[in-house]
Amino acid sequence: MKHTLGVLALNESDSQSMAEVVDSNWLSPGPRVKAFEETFSSYHDQKHGVMTNSGTDALRIALAALKEKNGWKDGDSVLVPAGTFVATVNVVLQLNLVPRLVDVSKYDFNMDPWCLRQAPMTPDVQCVIPVHLAGLPCDMPKILDVAKDHHLSVLEDSCEAMGVDGIITRELVNEFKLENEQWDVTPKETL
Ligand SMILES: Cc1ncc(COP(=O)(O)O)c(C=O)c1O
Repeated sequence: MKHTLGVLALNESDSQSMAEVVDSNWLSPGPRVKAFEETFSSYHDQKHGVMTNSGTDALRIALAALKEKNGWKDGDSVLVPAGTFVATVNVVLQLNLVPRLVDVSKYDFNMDPWCLRQAPMTPDVQCVIPVHLAGLPCDMPKILDVAKDHHLSVLEDSCEAMGVDGIITRELVNEFKLENEQWDVTPKETL
């Protein structure tokens, strides 16, 4: 039996919108991107949204901003789930930071908050990146509790969770140094 990850369902109005873009002869950022950013961020109850060329770059930009804003040093550590798409770890390495793996739960394959609690919180640990895999939200209240106790920044990798309810616990996230959520809107991620 063959299992697919999801079905891409583009309708006629989607095809028409794409044709309009091609016909407009304007493929770089412009009014359409701006409109998309506004619609997307308001759908996710956010004030601002910035479109990037890929989920990897969105993650890299967010992590680079956190590193610069908070004065992290090369070699500082970032906690990432042991099971995720490789981009989550790649961006940590690309920014000269060290990924430290936290095991995932056998129930949803997301970062296990209990394992996060057990992780050695040495002074070089600056950030945790929970990943909402396959459209299933992580247990953010518990993860945020640990992050708060250890003054960690939180960067949510929401590449696979566009439009999913329950991933943002804003009241808690607001208490952190910088808040970030990041989505990937390529069709394969809309599970
Ligand atoms: C969890 C997760 N993070 C990051 C990415 C990177 O996104 P992109 O392939 O658009 O660079 C993906 C893509 O598959 C992903 O699934």
